Amino acid sequence: MNLFQRTLAVTTPPDFAYKTGHSQQRIPRFVEQVGPDALILNLGSGRTDFGRRVVNLDIKPFSHVAVVGVGERLPVQDACLDGVITQGVLEHVPDLRATLAEIDRVLRPGGLVYHEAPFIQGFHASPNDFRRFTAVGMAELAPGYQVLERGIAVGPSSAMMWVASEYLALFCSLGNRTLLKVGRRAFPWLLSPLKFADAWLEGTPQAELIASAFYIVARKPEA
Ligand SMILES: C[S@@+](CC[C@H](N)C(=O)[O-])C[C@H]1O[C@@H](n2cnc3c(N)ncnc32)[C@H](O)[C@@H]1O
Repeated sequence: MNLFQRTLAVTTPPDFAYKTGHSQQRIPRFVEQVGPDALILNLGSGRTDFGRRVVNLDIKPFSHVAVVGVGERLPVQDACLDGVITQGVLEHVPDLRATLAEIDRVLRPGGLVYHEAPFIQGFHASPNDFRRFTAVGMAELAPGYQVLERGIAVGPSSAMMWVASEYLALFCSLGNRTLLKVGRRAFPWLLSPLKFADAWLEGTPQAELIASAFYIVARKPEA
């Protein structure tokens, strides 16, 4: 590996998503809302950890993962969970319908789901990337459930920064793969300050039209 390749390897670009303090508190608040003795599954948990009440499941054995498995076939008994969290996962599962059916199966009547999913973001494989969700489309992730809360998880400035960074890298690469790699590191750094405009923009009603990601909290019917 030469010096140029080494420099490219260590200059990790900043995260495209800027989460406001309020947005960062949403899952910890959800865990509180489900209850002190609740059992909650964090499906596709990655490297996240929301405390001892939350069991982490992922296809990869990250450090906080307790169960290695797939969303489409959960190794969990029927109706035994009080809550299920998916954050940035439903775009990655190959079979969305089967995953949602599994979440419904393992959730007890009256249990809560928290789904957070992307609308305007670049392609990001983990290990693949199949779909996007509009604001109204989010309700289809919990059909027949009572929607308790919904809104923007990541605002439009983050969406713009992500798309503009990828576009400028592509445009300036002139089809050259090395230039593309350089651009994909440089432009996120250059445009990064723009994403902080979400601190005020994501609160405006029109922000839903081009937001980066949405969330929904919904309750499974008792009957
Ligand atoms: C973008 S990451 C999000 C991780 C974490 N939820 C977060 O918010 O930081 C998507 C995660 O979903 C996991 N994943 C992808 N396909 C999955 C599947 N079929 N079943 C369970 N997890 C899956 C990936 O391994 C990855 O950790």
